Formats: sequence, C-alpha cells, structure tokens
Amino acid sequence: MCRATLAELNRVRELSRRARLVWHQEGFLSLIKQILCIYKTYYIYEMRLNTSTGIPDIPCQVSNLTIKPLFIPITLAEYEQLGRKGCDFSARPDIQDYRKGDEGTIVFWTTANNDEFVNRTGMTTMRKGSVYEQIQRFCPSFVDDGHSAYAGFSETAIQHRLKGVYTYVHSKIYRYLSDEGFSRVVLLEGKEQVGPRKAQDKLGAQVLNKAWHLRLLYLFNFMWTKPKMNQ
Ligand SMILES: CC(C)(COP(=O)(O)OP(=O)(O)OC[C@H]1O[C@@H](n2cnc3c(N)ncnc32)[C@H](O)[C@@H]1OP(=O)(O)O)[C@@H](O)C(=O)NCCC(=O)NCCS
Repeated sequence: MCRATLAELNRVRELSRRARLVWHQEGFLSLIKQILCIYKTYYIYEMRLNTSTGIPDIPCQVSNLTIKPLFIPITLAEYEQLGRKGCDFSARPDIQDYRKGDEGTIVFWTTANNDEFVNRTGMTTMRKGSVYEQIQRFCPSFVDDGHSAYAGFSETAIQHRLKGVYTYVHSKIYRYLSDEGFSRVVLLEGKEQVGPRKAQDKLGAQVLNKAWHLRLLYLFNFMWTKPKMNQ
C-alpha cells in the first residue's frame, strides 16, 4: 500500500490552497495557464552593508513604529508558509536570542503604537532549502561569502501601503544586520514587483543578475541566469 508522508500531504494541501486562490482571484483560465506553464523574470539584488556611503535613513508616513527582530529556527520556506496562513510571529513560542552564526530566520515584525501590525519581513541566515540554493546551482557568479543574509517575503498591512513603510523598514533592517556583522543582503525580486525594486534602488542595492524561471506542467522546473549584468 502506498502511504504519503506528512511532507507530501502538506505539499498537496499547499498546492490546492494556491490553486483555489488563483481561481478566485484571477479566474479559471489563468489557473489552467499556470498549471501548464509558468514563465517569470526575476532580478537578483545585492545590498552591500559596509559601504563608505552608508545606509540611507528614509523616513515614512506612519508614526510610532517599533521593529522587533524575532529570531526563529525555521527555514525561509517555513516562514513563507506560516506567513501565508497569517501567523502572528511575535507570539511564536520558539523565538530565541540571535547569536552570530545561528541558522534560522529573523522575522522583522513591525507594529504601530506597539500593537497594530504594520509589516513583516523575513531574512534568513542560511540558504539550505531556499530558492537561493537553486539559484546558486545555475549561477556560478553568485558566491556565498559566509556573511550574507537572504531576503524573504515582505508584506505591509493594506491600510499602511504606499506610505513608505517597506522602504523605511528595510533601511532599519540593513542597519541591524550590519551591526550584527552581516556584510550584505541578497534579494530576489520578480520583474512585476515594481514597488520593492524601486525601494531597493533608493536604498542603494545593485542588480547582480537577471534570472528566468520556467515551469512546465508542474513536472519540469528550470531556472537559469544571464551572465552578470554589470560585467
Ligand atoms: C510590495 C509591498 C510590500 C510594498 O510595501 P509599501 O509599504 O507599500 O512600500 P513603500 O510605501 O515603501 O513603497 C516603495 C516604493 O514603491 C512604490 N510602490 C509601492 N507599491 C507599488 C505598486 N503596487 N506599484 C507601483 N509602485 C509601487 C511606492 O510608490 C514607493 O515609491 P516612491 O518612493 O517613489 O514613492 C506591499 O505592496 C505589499 O505588502 N504587497 C503584497 C505583498 C507582496 O507582494 N510582497 C512582495 C514584496 S517582496
């Protein structure tokens, strides 16, 4: 008898949840198209944290913000899965103190007036099991220096969007990571993510590579990159 593992069941559950979301938000035709083929362009950004020009301080329009760095021993993929379920990371029982070299995800949890959720942004200290590991396989120029943090999903609460929160939070995150001894942050941004790309340009991040992701029939998954754009 064939028995599915818990991980396989979770994967099926996650795929059907995503399929329902696409069906409701974008329609049945879009769902069929996405099952048959996905083609997406990404930019790989690098934010150097030890630059002579420093990290710009960019204010935002929401006041009384508190950003709490919560270190949780989970992978970036787990952070993203929990985030999609609306997890309140500040209430996780496994939050630890971060010490240099620890592996896990630092969730930067931003609230207004110490209570209202405003933004969450994840940064992982490891590549294992994350999309960055896949990228490295296809992109030899993308070398880990052992002092890098890798960016995960960022979300601003709907009522606080377009007020500069994402940009402000990232400027603070970069300062925190620099103080913790990180030398750079690597980010993967979809071409359609105009807002985050604009903000990263403003903060001084550089585009390292352009990557394509092609998936056919959920069976074949390819990602490959162009040679370094600034060479
Ligand atoms: C993407 C997201 C995190 C941006 O957060 P935000 O707090 O609204 O971002 P900011 O206010 O700091 O905006 C940064 C810049 O992007 C621009 N921008 C933001 N959203 C934009 C959009 N949808 N289209 C075009 N520009 C946009 C802003 O105008 C600003 O540019 P400016 O400084 O020239 O005015 C937010 O829209 C969100 O949570 N989206 C859903 C989750 C998501 O897609 N996350 C992916 C991020 S990795």
